[in-house]
Amino acid sequence: MVTSRLQSRNQSKKWFERAQKSLVEGVNSPSRGAAVYADGPIMLERGKGSRVWDIDGNEYTDFMMSFGALIQGHAHPTLVKTVSEAMAEGSHFAAATSAEVEAAERFCRMVPSAEVVRFTNTGSEATMLALRLARAHTGRSKFLKFEGHYHGWYDAFLLNAHGHPPEQLGPVENPTRIPDSEGIPLSIFDDVVLAPWNDVAALEAVLSRHGHELAAVITEPIMANMGCILPRDGYLERLRELTRDCGALLILDEVVTGFRYAPGGCQ
Ligand SMILES: Cc1ncc(COP(=O)(O)O)c(C=O)c1O
Repeated sequence: MVTSRLQSRNQSKKWFERAQKSLVEGVNSPSRGAAVYADGPIMLERGKGSRVWDIDGNEYTDFMMSFGALIQGHAHPTLVKTVSEAMAEGSHFAAATSAEVEAAERFCRMVPSAEVVRFTNTGSEATMLALRLARAHTGRSKFLKFEGHYHGWYDAFLLNAHGHPPEQLGPVENPTRIPDSEGIPLSIFDDVVLAPWNDVAALEAVLSRHGHELAAVITEPIMANMGCILPRDGYLERLRELTRDCGALLILDEVVTGFRYAPGGCQ
């Protein structure tokens, strides 16, 4: 967030004190807390287009845009109208609806690889279920994930999901395994094969050793969680070939890139 006319943050500070009594660490995600906002979180009140306003009346340009989710900006009039109209008709049914059929049909038209769809509430559920499907389909339990790739909260994905200083990473051919949270039994990670991303030689080496036992390889097609790192020319194509050769499924996690990089996703 960037602002040129910061007045005060007294109200934000007051609300943060109050928040610490009811929210874990006073925020609803570490990304809203001290790790990002050294002076305490900014309490936002409203947004319009590319601008947001905090509870003290400070105006900011929003460079986060909900981590990429808000491609139309805040409170786009068409979205506000459409969602308000839908809400007035009742918005949550524990039964099938025609709207979800239309959404699935449009999804399949837009995303080249999509044949049928199951919608989930979060990206974590989507990646977890993709892995479960791959395991069921192949009858194998191991999978490969890449260093630095974040795929959500599912236990097995929380290995080397975040950035670490280079001196902690270990050798390229055998990365040091760093769990991202306490509370996960280390045995969960026995099924995880780890590799550096964007390195064809390392990929070929690890798949020649482990390819036959992998249910899947999961990757972001463009690394969006560490800033933005593009795949080297031919890297994803080679990954596609190698996974096909060893009978592992290729899971492209497009939680960030889908419908943002291009209408049909990065794939
Ligand atoms: C690439 C990627 N996959 C999965 C997830 C998990 O999504 P969610 O936070 O909706 O569970 C995220 C969240 O940031 C993500 O960036």
